[in-house]
Amino acid sequence: MMVNINQIKEMKQRGEKIAMLTAYDYASAQIVDRAGVPLILVGDSLGMVVLGYESTVPVTMEEMIHNTRAVMRGAHNTFVVAYLPFMSYQVSVPEAIRNAGRLLKEGGADAVKLEGGESMLPVVRAMVSAGIPVMGHLGLTPQTATMLGGLKAQARDAAAARTLLKDARLLVESGVFSLVLEAIPAQLGELVTKELSVPTIGIGAGPGCDGQVLVLYDMLGLFQRFLPKFVKRYANLGESIATALEQYCQEVESEAFPAAEHCFNMKREELAKLLEG
Ligand code: KIV
Repeated sequence: MMVNINQIKEMKQRGEKIAMLTAYDYASAQIVDRAGVPLILVGDSLGMVVLGYESTVPVTMEEMIHNTRAVMRGAHNTFVVAYLPFMSYQVSVPEAIRNAGRLLKEGGADAVKLEGGESMLPVVRAMVSAGIPVMGHLGLTPQTATMLGGLKAQARDAAAARTLLKDARLLVESGVFSLVLEAIPAQLGELVTKELSVPTIGIGAGPGCDGQVLVLYDMLGLFQRFLPKFVKRYANLGESIATALEQYCQEVESEAFPAAEHCFNMKREELAKLLEG
C-alpha cells in the first residue's frame, strides 16, 4: 500500500523508526520499494554517485526531473521525496515554487526537499501554501559545503547547536513535514527530535532521530571515491560486480560463454535449405 504523509507523521507518534534510502532510477527504486522501505529520496547525491560530478552543485532541474520520473516508475508503495538542486530555490520565491512544482508535476514526486534554515522560511511557507509538501535539511548542507569549510560535522558547539535548534523550530512552524539532520552530534540529534512535532531523519545525527537515511550507492559499496564516517556498508557490490565482469571477459575470451543454453537454433531442414544456397 502506498505510504502517505500522514502515515510518516504517525510513525513518529508511535515511536516507530523510519527507514529512508536514496534511489536514482527505475531498477534501484524497484529494489528499495520491494524491500519495504517507506521513504525514498531522489537525492542530488545523484550528481556525485551516478553522474560523477565533484559535488552536488552542478546538478540541474532537468537531471532531477529525468531521474525522479524513472524512480516513480519503479516505486509504487514508497513515498518519494525529490531534492531541489542548488540555485533552483534560492533566487526568488516564485522561481522556487515553479521548480518545486515541476518536481511534482513533471517528475511525479510526492514531496520536495531543500537545504537551509531561517533564510529559507519564506520559500517553505510559499511552497506549503501552494500545496507542495516540503522536507527540510539542516546541519551539513552539501550544496553549500564550501561556505561551511567542506563536508564536515556541524553544530558541535553550544552556540551553533542553539542556532540549529532554532532553525529547526522555525522550519516546522513554516510547515515542513519532516526534517533531515546531517552530520551533527548525536546529542543534538536527539534533542532536536524530542523538541519537534515532525519526524527527523538523521544521516550522521545519531540513533536518537526518528529515522535514518543513507545514500544507496554508499551503503551498497557502489560509490568508492570516499566513505563518510556515518555510512555503514551493508554490501560490497562494487567488488562483486567487478568479479562478475572479470569472469565474463575471461569466458568470452575462452569461448565458455555463450554456451548452448544461451543460443537459438534453426530447424535442421531450414539449415539444409540455407546451406544448399
Ligand atoms: O542528496 C542526498 O542523497 C542527501 C541525503 C543523503 C540526505 O543529501
